[in-house]
Amino acid sequence: MSDILTIADLKDLARRRVPKMFFDYADSGAWTESTYRANEEDFGKIKFRQRVLVDMSNRSLESTMIGERVAMPVALAPTGLTGMQHADGEMLAAQAAEEFGVPFTLSTMRICSIEDVASVTKKPFWFQLYVLRDKDFVLNLIDRAKAAKCSALVLTLDLQILGQRHKDIRNGLTAPPKFTPRFVAEMMFKPGWAFRMLGTRRHTFRNISGHVSDAVNLAKLSEWTRTQFDLTLNWKDIAWIKKRFGGPVIVKGILDKDDAQLAIDNGADGIVVSNHGGRQLDSAPSTIRVLPEIADAVGHKTEVLMDGGIRSGQDLLKALALGAKGALVGRIMAFGLGAGGEAGVARALEIVRKETDTSMALMGERDIRNIGLHNIYSNDLERRQGY
Ligand SMILES: Cc1cc2nc3c(=O)[nH]c(=O)nc-3n(C[C@H](O)[C@H](O)[C@H](O)COP(=O)(O)O)c2cc1C
Repeated sequence: MSDILTIADLKDLARRRVPKMFFDYADSGAWTESTYRANEEDFGKIKFRQRVLVDMSNRSLESTMIGERVAMPVALAPTGLTGMQHADGEMLAAQAAEEFGVPFTLSTMRICSIEDVASVTKKPFWFQLYVLRDKDFVLNLIDRAKAAKCSALVLTLDLQILGQRHKDIRNGLTAPPKFTPRFVAEMMFKPGWAFRMLGTRRHTFRNISGHVSDAVNLAKLSEWTRTQFDLTLNWKDIAWIKKRFGGPVIVKGILDKDDAQLAIDNGADGIVVSNHGGRQLDSAPSTIRVLPEIADAVGHKTEVLMDGGIRSGQDLLKALALGAKGALVGRIMAFGLGAGGEAGVARALEIVRKETDTSMALMGERDIRNIGLHNIYSNDLERRQGY
């Protein structure tokens, strides 16, 4: 792993090691993927102010997220099918996060279950909830998260209906994969992935088994979501979910300042400014673009987190400067897992830590909690253009 210097290096390695259908599942956005691309590209338009001759000794990246101390203000985002990037992927990512000192979020749509992850971790993790029509099942999921001592519930609001991802349909994505001649041939070039997969019994959606048949054809996931996900989910639902869970509920998928206010009015304990990594509404703005106005509107009333497009420590610093208290990272984790399992996720976090620490020093800052708008370079012309 020592020759892996950037997240792009990890992504290249993951591409070589993970079957195409699962690599593509992570590396895809909805329809034209314009929002997926914008999430990354819009970070590039933001520039830092460089300050010199500032004492840069004793730097600290420590902060808090939703009341928890974190080694760096980053949490691993909920991502479905992580156990297909690498055998037992969710358990390995959770261990890497625990070791590093950042929160890990387990998705409803993961391969390893709540109990699997709880069995290999000591610190509480976060659980992400999708609200399905079967309320008894949802209540049971919340109770299981509570029993596993999950310290926060992340309620995802932007996927009651599925944005179409062409790659998944073209690849005929299934979990577990079907042993078509094409897939078997591919395994000859990805033996590590295949052997590790043979060594685990976790091959399908273990959080929702019983609600989904063994081999879910993910190309038909939109049909499955249509029948299983609750299309009537609304702001009032936050109250009963919060009451049942009894701990902080963070709502994820906020992209509009009016929705941010509604989330607070309805009891959310924090928000994640997110467009689901560009996987849902294509042509929605990038998250870094809408973050400042949302943070301006509600940042003094609630904790504002963000995700989408973060591929470096510099991106993280930009998100913090524009008003986020911390960021969630999805693909960084998926690529890390695909490239090298637990060591790959640890490497990804280490890359981000080093980039953040060095860049912060070059910006003349010593404490990540002091990063703010004053760190962003903007001349008059750029300000008029919105940057
Ligand atoms: C492969 C993949 C699967 C995802 N699955 C979920 C999920 O099950 N639940 C959820 O709330 N968000 C899910 N997301 C969205 C992430 O939580 C997060 O919003 C997004 O990945 C952030 O963008 P980034 O990948 O550019 O960091 C998924 C994202 C990816 C890439």
